[in-house]
Amino acid sequence: MVDPKAQHSPNIVLRRIQPSDLEVLERIHGELFPIRYESEFFHNVVNGRDIIAWGAVDRSRPGSQNDELIGFITARVVSARESEIGDLLRYDSSSIEQVLVYILTLGVVKAYRNHGIATELIQEVINYASSILTCRGVYLHVIAYNDRAIRLYKTMSFKCVRRLQNFYYIKGQHYDSYLFVHYVNGGRSPWSPLEIVTTVAMYVRSLFKSLAIRLWKREEKKLSRWPKCKETSGLLTTQNKRLLTIESAGCQYV
Ligand SMILES: CC(C)(COP(=O)(O)OP(=O)(O)OC[C@H]1O[C@@H](n2cnc3c(N)ncnc32)[C@H](O)[C@@H]1OP(=O)(O)O)[C@@H](O)C(=O)NCCC(=O)NCCS
Repeated sequence: MVDPKAQHSPNIVLRRIQPSDLEVLERIHGELFPIRYESEFFHNVVNGRDIIAWGAVDRSRPGSQNDELIGFITARVVSARESEIGDLLRYDSSSIEQVLVYILTLGVVKAYRNHGIATELIQEVINYASSILTCRGVYLHVIAYNDRAIRLYKTMSFKCVRRLQNFYYIKGQHYDSYLFVHYVNGGRSPWSPLEIVTTVAMYVRSLFKSLAIRLWKREEKKLSRWPKCKETSGLLTTQNKRLLTIESAGCQYV
């Protein structure tokens, strides 16, 4: 593997993954992940069958290496309702089906880490997701001990929404997973527990306030009517008639 620090400054370019990437893509996945992926997965990635994928290459490398993958991201568009996070999304009233982009794999070879390549790859997926009007977010699973990746997702405004017990089974051992979401196009869940409590509290407060105002007005009316009646008894009938007319017009009984 070429060390980019030993050469002149790397010239990192992102491009879509293509059939000629098959061999390198499979090799890097094997080096970076403890999970084995089936050959069919790689064929689907490079041929764009139901999967969208970007690769990073270093154009400053010599010869054909200047187009060899040094990083990748693979993702799939899924139905929001059928996804694991369908319940966390804000749905609009239209009947148009909403979707999400699910990140399947992400990796950068060791020699090229901490150059912002994964950040760029994730940003590419976020931009893609944002360009789909019916898309509400980008989500992914990450193994609970992968602190480096978790820090990266948090930096990129992904929110941890779930911890899934024993999600992964690797070499005879179970591992938990975190589910991270980056909302796009206003897909954020409208009702977090804090929002529910705040909204209910505000509603109850305004209800009490309007009840108090009504009671206070009624009391004020009572107080202001009787002294007038006493003082100007001759006008009582006329005044009450006018009052009745106004009230009944409001109630629409006549
Ligand atoms: C996780 C992984 C993809 C990160 O790749 P990366 O290219 O090193 O990530 P980035 O360079 O974008 O970000 C890493 C750090 O470099 C910093 N960085 C970003 N741009 C930078 C730049 N131009 N120069 C220097 N550092 C930069 C980031 O802020 C980040 O800092 P942090 O660790 O404090 O959050 C990589 O470590 C990897 O492939 N790991 C093995 C596979 C894996 O775990 N995949 C994720 C599965 S969910």
